[in-house]
Amino acid sequence: MIMQRRTLLAALASAPLWPLAARANPHAGHGMPMHDSMPMNGMAAMHAPSSSPDALPPAGQPLATLPRLANRSTEAGTFSGVIDIAETRHALLPGAPTRLWSYNAGPLGPLIELNAGDRVAITLNNRLPEETTVHWHGLPVDPRVDGHPRDAIAPGGSFRAGFTLPDNLSGTFWYHPHPHGLTARQVAMSLAGPVIIRHRNDPFAGLPESLLVISDQRFDRDNQVAAHTPADWMDGREGEVVLVNGQYRPRLDVAPNETRRLRVLNACAARYLLLSLPGATLTRVGTDGGALARPETGLSQLLLTPGERTELLVTFPARVGQSLQLVSLPYARGKMMQPEQTAALPLMTVAVADRAPAAAFSLPAQLATIVPLGRPDIRRRVVLSERPMDHRMAGGGMMAMMKNMFLIDGRTYDMNRVDLSGKVGQIEEWEVVNDSHMDHPFHLHGGQFQLIARNGKPQPPSWRDTVNLAPRASLTLRVRFDTPGERLYHCHILEHEDLGMMGTLAVHA
Ligand code: C2O
Ligand code: CU
Ligand code: CU
Repeated sequence: MIMQRRTLLAALASAPLWPLAARANPHAGHGMPMHDSMPMNGMAAMHAPSSSPDALPPAGQPLATLPRLANRSTEAGTFSGVIDIAETRHALLPGAPTRLWSYNAGPLGPLIELNAGDRVAITLNNRLPEETTVHWHGLPVDPRVDGHPRDAIAPGGSFRAGFTLPDNLSGTFWYHPHPHGLTARQVAMSLAGPVIIRHRNDPFAGLPESLLVISDQRFDRDNQVAAHTPADWMDGREGEVVLVNGQYRPRLDVAPNETRRLRVLNACAARYLLLSLPGATLTRVGTDGGALARPETGLSQLLLTPGERTELLVTFPARVGQSLQLVSLPYARGKMMQPEQTAALPLMTVAVADRAPAAAFSLPAQLATIVPLGRPDIRRRVVLSERPMDHRMAGGGMMAMMKNMFLIDGRTYDMNRVDLSGKVGQIEEWEVVNDSHMDHPFHLHGGQFQLIARNGKPQPPSWRDTVNLAPRASLTLRVRFDTPGERLYHCHILEHEDLGMMGTLAVHA
């Protein structure tokens, strides 16, 4: 059944609870747990107030490089670092500083730069007023150190995440909170950081490189991170102020004719990025789990859903003074409550600077060997769906109603329930189906899977952990787990994840 936007709006409009709830809860939106007390701002806030243009951060600053997490170990092949998770203040806008939650004082977390095969230990100190966890998105770490919501770090508590990276893994990954019901809010408060894993056999080791962490933010009148509205919970929250490495529309200077590697992470909770760089073409050389077998050249646009990463090569023009704009093109993802994007959204300017022109780069035809996972031992079918909103259920509150809306295999997440069981070493084939009218980016914990087909159409080999599913679309993936334990799979629109569009796979020894 398809939920009609009008029905839904009517249901929401007739829910008498919000204005009362907003008044009863003066701290709404300041990091309050949302369990049945979701921050609600009443009808006025249903359509998010855009930040007024005079309150935008300054544009055109040179693109910042994120600080690197210091390695406290001197032993070869080991990395040990400390991340403090705490509230900090940042002058993002003219006027009052914005309170953020930060990894090592951030606006964004430090870059954790590792080598394939490293033994890693990261100490996480939670100085927030609420529990959190840190999830290593895309990394094949033991489930016991992967930030499962059950392993919440209490305020004042610490946790040591230790893991060893495989010898053959390289690529762009990230870390972010995963406490159940609190993830979307904590990411909105700015908790997210990138991980790069490098490998000796990197085909682009000599190229200039930029890491672009794209996030979005919405501010209230006091320059603070705005509270989630009911519409945000439903659609997934998009901030109007889109940031690259924490900066608003920064500028990247390049040499004439330079070929540069761009690693792009979509760290937004819900914003889809349809990346395009008019005046240049994109060559995709890597996905979530590292290099593609063969480059995809001549792309004019590329969809990057929340949680996903891509590696691109771009050759910039030869003419000094020319400038290009990296934009996100309109993409309609089936939002129920808020209008879809209608115009290209500028993300970053690239300016060809007066520098010595770069030598021509020749692209290798083969980038990596991706050995296909063979014939599956287990086949599964996983269905994402939405339950039409029924406002007779509104007696339990808006939150209760929405908590039953976003489903996997007809159920909402329960931390104490195992939904699927598997076995270490077995090859699983999943058919994931979107039986709803809205896009959902499907994500599986515990490492990388091979995307085999989309809508029945075979796909070139690639390692992924997050793949979009348009309405009624399906995908086929193959995966093998080498460590026992519980793995989560969920929609990476973080509000949907918090509302329970998530399940548990128990992998047995
Ligand atoms: Cu990036 Cu379970 O998430
Ligand atoms: Cu993940
Ligand atoms: Cu979703």
